Amino acid sequence: MCGIVGYFGEKSAVPILVEGLRKLEYRGYDSSGIAVMEEGGIRITKSVGKLVNLEEKLSNRTYNAKIGIGHTRWATHGRPSDVNAHPHMDCHGDFAVVHNGIIENYLELREWLTAEGHLFRSETDTEVLAHLVEHFYKGDLQDAVKKMLAKVEGSYAVVVLSYKNPDIMVAARKDSPLIVGIGDGEYFVASDIPAVLKYTRKTYIMEDGEMVTVSAKGLKFCDFTTGECIEKSVFEVTWDAVAAEKGGYEHFMLKEIFEQPKALRDTLAGRLNHDHVVLQEVDLTPKEVALFNKVAIVACGTAYHAGLIGKGLIEHWAKIPVEVDIASEFRYRAPLIDDKTLVVVISQSGETADTLAALRESKKKGARVIAITNVVGSSVAREAHDVIHTWAGPEIAVASTKAYTTQIEGMILLALYLTQAKGTMPKEWITEIISELGKIPDKAEIILKEGAERIKTLARYFEEVSSAFFIGRGLDWAVAQEGSLKLKEISYIHAEAYASGELKHGTLALITEDTPIIALATQRDLYEKTVSNVIEVKARDAKVIGFTFEGNTDLYKSVNEIFYIPETVNELAPILTVIPLQLLSYYVSVARGNDVDKPRNLAKSVTVE
Ligand code: F6R
Repeated sequence: MCGIVGYFGEKSAVPILVEGLRKLEYRGYDSSGIAVMEEGGIRITKSVGKLVNLEEKLSNRTYNAKIGIGHTRWATHGRPSDVNAHPHMDCHGDFAVVHNGIIENYLELREWLTAEGHLFRSETDTEVLAHLVEHFYKGDLQDAVKKMLAKVEGSYAVVVLSYKNPDIMVAARKDSPLIVGIGDGEYFVASDIPAVLKYTRKTYIMEDGEMVTVSAKGLKFCDFTTGECIEKSVFEVTWDAVAAEKGGYEHFMLKEIFEQPKALRDTLAGRLNHDHVVLQEVDLTPKEVALFNKVAIVACGTAYHAGLIGKGLIEHWAKIPVEVDIASEFRYRAPLIDDKTLVVVISQSGETADTLAALRESKKKGARVIAITNVVGSSVAREAHDVIHTWAGPEIAVASTKAYTTQIEGMILLALYLTQAKGTMPKEWITEIISELGKIPDKAEIILKEGAERIKTLARYFEEVSSAFFIGRGLDWAVAQEGSLKLKEISYIHAEAYASGELKHGTLALITEDTPIIALATQRDLYEKTVSNVIEVKARDAKVIGFTFEGNTDLYKSVNEIFYIPETVNELAPILTVIPLQLLSYYVSVARGNDVDKPRNLAKSVTVE
């Protein structure tokens, strides 16, 4: 996730900017840079890789600047490189911009600005902001920033410096956090509180639609759409620095679970049109799609579970047979892959050794390979023919949460893309699914806001137990597998995921009153079947917690506890069903005193052979 720092005061800006960026390192980044207001112009220094690389470049000269902006970048548009690192400038080096978020209409703006004679240097969406400010500037930086914001669609926290107005700094936000810190005759702007905590605890938290102008006279807040002035009250930070890094959450895992509405929104941004999906990064003609006789999905762990959902959707909608493989099995089993196979590899990190090996093996056999990954510029992203990026931001906790739900979105988008190309479903149906998909981030937010406390109380069923079962049918079974992995991984309770109908073929012997059962029932055509399986386990005195939609009264009557998921169509239910399961694993593990962010025996990604 990108980080922003800005300084305006009487001290030397460079060390303060670097220190602020260091405090944001925990968010993950792949390049960094600063822009400072020197005599004679704005001076920019940028470097790919760790902050020490930037520091090394900065150590080659002395700086007098007392105003500056800095940025750590997590690549989205364009690979990690010096050129793509922020800050970005206009054609003449008069304006410098740092930005967090995604500019959805950057391609059309870039085309327009290029036609107007602007010269672009990077592949980023952010650079259009610098050129837009240049375009609109008529002697007043605040006015130019307002006009620039009126042109852009998407999410942003943005800070702008101009050598033409060297005594002010302008910042604004929409759907991406931004705070202003107040020091003694100095001001700080940052995307996150840890960046300023060393200097001040007094902050203003900016809201969507707000713009601030920082000058020696003080701060001026306004609504950037209406231009009206805004009075704001100071927020005094009471957390310590460590808690601040986690945004006030106790663990990164919980923070990342709560980041899902934003991650889900960002992943859909610019990809949904009312009756079709747009995947700019996938370049397949309908003719090429028609030639595939098979899809092979390959991944590990949680990403593999996202693949299981993908199988259900692609087979059901696009009518192409799908195999899903664990990458470590796929690479050694001589899979039947050729130029008529579409291989889809899924990897949050894009660096998992088995997944990468499967990708290379598939290419060798002539298959077309699409990657679904969260890391721009990762090995998987570079080596696949096409990439669908998930925009979840870095995942710091070992247990994958927001990566999984955005991977499911990636699978849904791909399944719709293939369906569109093959014409296997009516247009009205695609329109309906797209409309429902657009509502998923808000529904995820409802679960987190209204359901977290309830899940905390359900965690008590797991206090003393050593074993648990997750059951479900169809897509619910795929989600059950992810729920069970999460519980094992961080709570160390042995958990099994079972296709509900399979329990009676022997495994029922393990069900006792001490084995809590999580029964997932979101597939309406399978409600009755799941209820009959619940009755089987209840007959063994097991305690059952059901997860379903309101109205499933038969399930309600047969379980000990029930959690209702906001209504959606069957196919999209997995994204919403897994969120309370993630919360459940989290609360169970915390109650057992485990280190949730760093579970025993595990590292974040498995890149070694
Ligand atoms: C589980 C988890 C792992 C990863 C797996 C694949 O919470 O994080 O199962 O999903 O190691 O990693 P990526 O997606 O980076 O290839």
